[in-house]
Amino acid sequence: MNEDSIKIARDYMDSLVVESRIVGAARPSSKVTLCGIEFDTPIMTAALSHIDLVGMAQGAARLNAPVSIGMGDNDELMRVLGTGAHVMKIIKPYKDKDEILKRIECARDNGAMAVGMDVEHAVNADDDEDSIVVGKAMKLPTLEELREYVELAKIPFFIKGAMSPHDVRRAAEIGCEGVILSHHNGLMRCSVPPVMMLGEIREDIGDDFTVIVDGGMESGYDAFKALALGASLVTVGKRLIEPLKNEGADGVYNVLRNMTGELRAMMLRTDSADLGSIDPGVIHRLK
Ligand SMILES: Cc1cc2nc3c(=O)[nH]c(=O)nc-3n(C[C@H](O)[C@H](O)[C@H](O)COP(=O)(O)O)c2cc1C
Repeated sequence: MNEDSIKIARDYMDSLVVESRIVGAARPSSKVTLCGIEFDTPIMTAALSHIDLVGMAQGAARLNAPVSIGMGDNDELMRVLGTGAHVMKIIKPYKDKDEILKRIECARDNGAMAVGMDVEHAVNADDDEDSIVVGKAMKLPTLEELREYVELAKIPFFIKGAMSPHDVRRAAEIGCEGVILSHHNGLMRCSVPPVMMLGEIREDIGDDFTVIVDGGMESGYDAFKALALGASLVTVGKRLIEPLKNEGADGVYNVLRNMTGELRAMMLRTDSADLGSIDPGVIHRLK
């Protein structure tokens, strides 16, 4: 029995292989637009926490890469925004609504690019109780509460942890700008790999909705596979932690730059001039 969603996703990613279309190929551009802002790479930092998020944002900003950050107080958010990075603040589904509203207001009033909520962290992995995260009580928000947060934010809102056409449609219906497909490091056991859901989700929601994929991105080749199958952007989390600890912002910059290089190498080899023109047909699955 394998309930480990991280391993299931890794095995799936490794089963995907790429077809070369090098003859006469054009040099690629990895530019992407998120929330109306143009970035030089679709490889974004994941919503991490309890690490040096200022260093992380500095490294990403140097490459003109988008940043998402996880739980933390408003002082931390202000310091991250002070780096000049374009930041999506992911807010926990706190039971105390004021905790949510304070963070939304701080992000909106101080120039964050977007806010979001990792809704799935409201419940435990192994029973149906609401969870406690770092001593704080969570509560699964109702659809009406989520709609209220989206309206209050007045800046683009993302649901993190949506994983199906069902979830993505609901996010679109309440006015979200997009979703982050994520099983949050395996909190959802036996999870279908986020990358495996992209085809169905794109078919259901169309091309215009922002669908970011999170989880297990270790290289630009992984990112390429997700982008080819329909992701708008990908996020990178654990892969950044050691370089950040050891080298600070430089470590983050180097990982994101190298991953973007690998992505562009694969775009060139598949004759993909830009992110919107990667043909999903270049991805094959090993039997
Ligand atoms: C140290 C650490 C802290 C995290 N904190 C948060 C958080 O506060 N909010 C959140 O939505 N996700 C959080 N995550 C989950 C990541 O955003 C991401 O979903 C997960 O790590 C999978 O991506 P990865 O395989 O690229 O790391 C955290 C992950 C790690 C490793």
